[in-house]
Amino acid sequence: MDLFNNTILITGGTSGFGLEFVKRFLELGNTVIITGRNMAKLEETKKRFPQVHVFQSDVSDIEHIGKLFSQVTQRFPELNILINNAGEMRKISLNQRHELTDLTREIDINLSGPIHLVQQFLPHLKTRKKAAIINVTSGIALMTFPVSPIYSASKAGLRAYTKALRVQLRHTGIKVIELVAPGSNTPLNEKFTTDRAVNAGALMPPDKIVEAAIKGIKYDQDEVYPGLSKLIRVMSRIAPDFLLEQASKAGKEFYSAN
Ligand SMILES: NC(=O)c1ccc[n+]([C@@H]2O[C@H](COP(=O)([O-])OP(=O)(O)OC[C@H]3O[C@@H](n4cnc5c(N)ncnc54)[C@H](OP(=O)(O)O)[C@@H]3O)[C@@H](O)[C@H]2O)c1
Repeated sequence: MDLFNNTILITGGTSGFGLEFVKRFLELGNTVIITGRNMAKLEETKKRFPQVHVFQSDVSDIEHIGKLFSQVTQRFPELNILINNAGEMRKISLNQRHELTDLTREIDINLSGPIHLVQQFLPHLKTRKKAAIINVTSGIALMTFPVSPIYSASKAGLRAYTKALRVQLRHTGIKVIELVAPGSNTPLNEKFTTDRAVNAGALMPPDKIVEAAIKGIKYDQDEVYPGLSKLIRVMSRIAPDFLLEQASKAGKEFYSAN
């Protein structure tokens, strides 16, 4: 897919991968629209990239999605790419008590959010000559990360959903791409900085991940596996139990305590 002159909506465009996408897509000559919950972060991004269009919107809120759809498609009827990037990741010990109202927040943001956004924007994307949906999953979609059980479930779910979506849209002109991102040094990962993978320097810089994603979109790849994600993909097939044991070491004291 040609990455020039598109109109691209990126959820969670104010930090990490989203912010890198903003920078690169603007450099390539596209119109870029972003969302986020925090208005100050949106204003800061607008200050840094005056061409970017910002909308305060929470992907886990169905009313916000409806409102975002009307506002964006009215102002940008040429919108043809949706990037489901917004996400959250928490350490959760299932041995502790949790409010049920908050426990599944990562499912609401990382899984239900993209599902609702796709359904809302799909009729519009079908009217465009070339269109794409890019869902950002994770190496953790292939390899459960026990210290983040709900996040693991959300990303494995998003991967399954993305595969089904691709099959169901085969007869349309819409490309469905999964970015299977490896661990990266973004704000999402800050609370994991004492964990092994982070200390072992296994993190890939966000600009490299976004560069790989852009290459993948350009060359019409269905799934993009930057850096360590390639290895996780192979290991998840040939040695899944070993992979789980390695992943279980991160945050063991935290999730084992009653
Ligand atoms: N960093 C990694 O190691 C890694 C690895 C694999 C996959 N990923 C995935 O990559 C994506 C981006 O992660 P990142 O590392 O770039 O995270 P990040 O730096 O924390 O940025 C997350 C972005 O999403 C926005 N966001 C969060 N919840 C939202 C919501 N409910 N509605 C709208 N926007 C929301 C945030 O802004 P507000 O807080 O203002 O809403 C922010 O702009 C996520 O889906 C993540 O799961 C990350």
